[in-house]
Amino acid sequence: MKKITIAFVLLACSMIGAAQTLPAIIPQPVSLGLRTGNFELNAQTRIEVSGSPEALRVAEMLATQLRPATGYALPVGNGFTKTVKSNLIAFELNKSADITLGNEGYSLDIQPSSISIKANKPAGLFYAVQTLLQIFPKEIGGKTLIKKTYWSLPGLSVTDQPRFAWRGLMFDVSRHFFTKQEVKDFIDNMVKYKYNLLHWHLTDDQGWRIEIKSLPKLTSVGAWRVDKTGNFGSFSAPTEDEPKTYGGFYTQEDIKEVIKYAADRFVDILPEVDVPGHSSAAIASYPELTCDPANVRVSSGEKFMQWHGGGKFDALVENMLCPAKETTYEFLDKVFTEVAALFPFPYIHMGGDECAKNFWEKSSAVKELMEREKLKDMHEVQSYFVKRVEKIILAKGKKMIGWDEILEGGLAPSAAVMSWRGMKGGTEAVKMGHEVIMSPNTNAYLDFMQGDASMEPPVYNSLRLKTSYEFDPMPEGADPKLVKGGQANLWTEQIYNTRHMQYMLWPRAFAVAESLWSPKEKKNWKSFVERTEQHFARFDEAEIKYSPAMYDAIVKPTLTEAGQLKIDLSTEVDGLNIYYSFDNSFPDRYYPKYTQTLTPPKDASTMKLITYRGKNVVGRMMVIPIADLQKRAAKK
Ligand code: ACM
Repeated sequence: MKKITIAFVLLACSMIGAAQTLPAIIPQPVSLGLRTGNFELNAQTRIEVSGSPEALRVAEMLATQLRPATGYALPVGNGFTKTVKSNLIAFELNKSADITLGNEGYSLDIQPSSISIKANKPAGLFYAVQTLLQIFPKEIGGKTLIKKTYWSLPGLSVTDQPRFAWRGLMFDVSRHFFTKQEVKDFIDNMVKYKYNLLHWHLTDDQGWRIEIKSLPKLTSVGAWRVDKTGNFGSFSAPTEDEPKTYGGFYTQEDIKEVIKYAADRFVDILPEVDVPGHSSAAIASYPELTCDPANVRVSSGEKFMQWHGGGKFDALVENMLCPAKETTYEFLDKVFTEVAALFPFPYIHMGGDECAKNFWEKSSAVKELMEREKLKDMHEVQSYFVKRVEKIILAKGKKMIGWDEILEGGLAPSAAVMSWRGMKGGTEAVKMGHEVIMSPNTNAYLDFMQGDASMEPPVYNSLRLKTSYEFDPMPEGADPKLVKGGQANLWTEQIYNTRHMQYMLWPRAFAVAESLWSPKEKKNWKSFVERTEQHFARFDEAEIKYSPAMYDAIVKPTLTEAGQLKIDLSTEVDGLNIYYSFDNSFPDRYYPKYTQTLTPPKDASTMKLITYRGKNVVGRMMVIPIADLQKRAAKK
């Protein structure tokens, strides 16, 4: 009898324990509370919709997403009557708007009898579905059929809406090309974390990726380059006889298809045509676009810029359009006419970043332009160019946005600014009354290395998950109406394929998603890490790659005044132990545990590190030559 009582108490405790665990939702909702009981989804569950055809489409998307893992063909009925009261998922568009929910907010109520989803707009229903899918057991995201009689969801009440309206991810498809299907997959994954804007970086030195019918060479020439593999940016220069086999572009039909695919998922697409710099692909196609005749090819990853540090640089090839030729503006008029006709989004991004001035400085045409227009320096020349582009874009009925260099020499009157060199440019632009998107390289550059340099494909800078998580797009005292939101940027110089693209995005794009959606006061690093780990398990099911760098040791080498190397170790994630060796063998948890600053033995050549949580390995084996640590320490 006693045994039965104990067993019962234990069972009851474990049930309460289970029921008390909040599901791991990213981004963290505004409010999330447990209810008693569970909803059991089974083959008889009905989905009913009261609202627009768009609401019905959202409900149908849920049914489609539930199908592979459950095997259930759940019926979706239009015309929700409230007569069916049990085993129901009910989607409802509010008849009179609930002002607390805005355009993208929702309420989601999971009770034993039914799940109720309400929103003012279909987008809100869609975000409720994303939350609901994260509440299901992780297997729901897999492609494997799991035979079970029901899927249990905890009773829950969620009310949610975003902090920012612009929640973007930038995808560079120029440096490496990603197919239409890969772009759709990218969209599928971004919406799971409630991103609503794809900034599509369509042109750059390494490839022009959008068909412009009136300028066919942009894609017949500009979309193709020599195929190189290795450390992008330091390849040998291609020779004339090397075939240009790498590349690709989107036809206008492809673009329309992707725009529709995105719109069905409440994602807007911001197209970027990056000018006047970053234009080798355009110039290779139409050489007359430079000020002086130049032999420019589509870059294949060879060095073509000289970076002097401190934000100073020169171009080694003339990769910038000529601001002093009318034909440049005629070219851009053609480009933006077609871009504006294709993309429904009200903004067009004209780039404007990293335009080297050394060729303009030598050009007699630019000198004449400066005299004629009374432009006193190269910044004003650039500003003249940007203002001309703004006029073209406005004439197409669109608003112009550019990287923060467009502030230099005077900002175009109606331009919106995308702040990438930190938040400074954006903060200045807000003060001047301009709209701003924050995508600072300090927090939101997902091409940067996310772990130790010894572990990652080499990139010129690092950005750890925790620093991404610290992103707050709202500068103190700024007008919140002008700071439209933020985005993370994925440049693809070192990203050759979709698996690595995923590795670079996740989990840092979780962190930025939470910075853009969740209330600031709801953000919590410890909780975020716990939820991230659960999403790793979801990604394993869904076969999406992610980086485990947050488990690796952080290595800080320094030199004492006497030149002695010292090594400090730490981890981003609490509760991990680091074990090390200097004897070339592979450490495990029976090796020395790191407790304080290390001094490598005099003749040691390599340090090896591994992290554990309790008895389980969580980090990767790190192998770092002592000579590299010496070099790193000397640099600081
Ligand atoms: C940029 O990263 N050049 C905008």
